Formats: sequence, C-alpha cells, structure tokens
Amino acid sequence: MHIIRVKDYDALSEKACNYVVNQIRKLDKPVLGLATGSTPEGLYERLIDAYRKEKVTFKNVKTFNLDEYAGLEKKNSNSYYFYMKDKLFNHVDIEMNHVQLPNGDVSDIEIECSRYEKKIREAGHIDLQLLGLGLNGHIGFNEPGSSFSSRTHIVELDVSTREANARFFDSMKNVPTQAITMGIGTIMESKEILLLVSGKKKAEAVKQLLEGEISESFPATVLRNHEKVTMIADEGALSLV
Ligand code: GLP
Repeated sequence: MHIIRVKDYDALSEKACNYVVNQIRKLDKPVLGLATGSTPEGLYERLIDAYRKEKVTFKNVKTFNLDEYAGLEKKNSNSYYFYMKDKLFNHVDIEMNHVQLPNGDVSDIEIECSRYEKKIREAGHIDLQLLGLGLNGHIGFNEPGSSFSSRTHIVELDVSTREANARFFDSMKNVPTQAITMGIGTIMESKEILLLVSGKKKAEAVKQLLEGEISESFPATVLRNHEKVTMIADEGALSLV
C-alpha cells in the first residue's frame, strides 16, 4: 500500500482531487467508484472547483457508488443518491445516465443487488475506486465478518456504524438498519483504489488496517492484498503508526 501523508483534511482533499483529476484526464472513458460519508466531501468540493476552472470534464466519466441505505427514497436527504447529487453531480457536466447507485427503495433487494452487480460487470471494471474507512474497519458497508469474496449484497448495519452516521439524521431511530453495498470481492476487482482517512478518531482503525492480521473481522485489512492501493491520510489518522 502506498501511503501519502498530509498535514490535515484540507491537504488531503487537495491531494485526492489532483489524484482523481489526473486519472480522469489519463483515461479515455474513466469508470470511477465513488464513496459517501464526511471524508470525501472536501474532494467533491474541489472537483467542482476544478470543473468550473475547466481543469476537468466529467462528460465521459461513468460512476458507481459503493453503497446505499435500504428503505430510503432517492429524494430523502439522507439517501446517498441525494448526497451525490447535492455534493457533486448537480454541479458538474456528468451525464446522469452514466451514474449508478444501488437503489435502496425497492421491494426486492436481492434482485436489486444482482442488477447492480451486473451493471458493474457490464462496465468492464472500475478504474479507480474511492474508499473511506469505518471506525470498525468497514469499507463501503461491509461490516466486520463480511466475506472477502462477497459481491453486492444486503447488510445489517452494526449499531456502531448506525451511531457513527446518526449525526446526519434527526434521531438514531431514523438511521436505517440495513444497506446495500458492493461486496469486498467487487471492490477488490477495481484496478486501483484510493483510500482517504482523516482525523485522530480514525487513528486506531488505521493502525489496525496497517498492522493487524488480514482478517474478515477487520474488513479493510483486505486492501493489503490489492496490488494498487494508495492511502491519503493526515497526521491525525496516522498518529498511532
Ligand atoms: C459510511 C459509508 C462508508 C464511509 C464510512 C466512513 O458508513 N458507508 O462508505 O467510508 O462510513 O465515513 P466518514 O467518512 O463519514 O467517516
């Protein structure tokens, strides 16, 4: 794993933006895997800025998001669909028919998981997958215990994950209990992975990721088996390693 150490969150967002812009420019028809959560927000802000300054175009970019809550309508402001439109898609020249997220608002989630996995296969591969790191080592919504060979599937969210994400909701009881996530097997097939980690509260998770046993009990450790992973992390996140 290649580690890029930066001072703080601003520097992380800046580095990540340069990284993503270079990839988009380099590839003819880039396929990006996108992540949600607080960590990539600064990156998305800078990507919008880069687009406005004509440093990048999203015309030929296709995207697949990692995950989505089950049971939320797209128009719910806590859905990841809403997040992506609000934080990126509405502000750049991406074609909305090039954008894919799992749909959490369906009657048959199993069918939706198969549909999503098929869409990713049809695209060929994901060129660059963005990832954040959950406090318990989750990537996407692959909670501890998720199989390293899993494909897009439904998950029961850990109480700790629901608590960590409760800040976005009115109350803990409104945080969904289930989500759809790309599987670890799906994520690992990406050609390249860019992991973003910021802040002291993630320091223990980063230590575990880099020094712990590679195990399904801490899903992010699987990334050490991937040949092209770059982690951009700030001093807080790297403070225990
Ligand atoms: C959420 C998302 C993940 C994200 C993680 C970390 O649960 N499903 O994709 O990487 O939490 O989020 P944050 O960046 O807000 O710490």
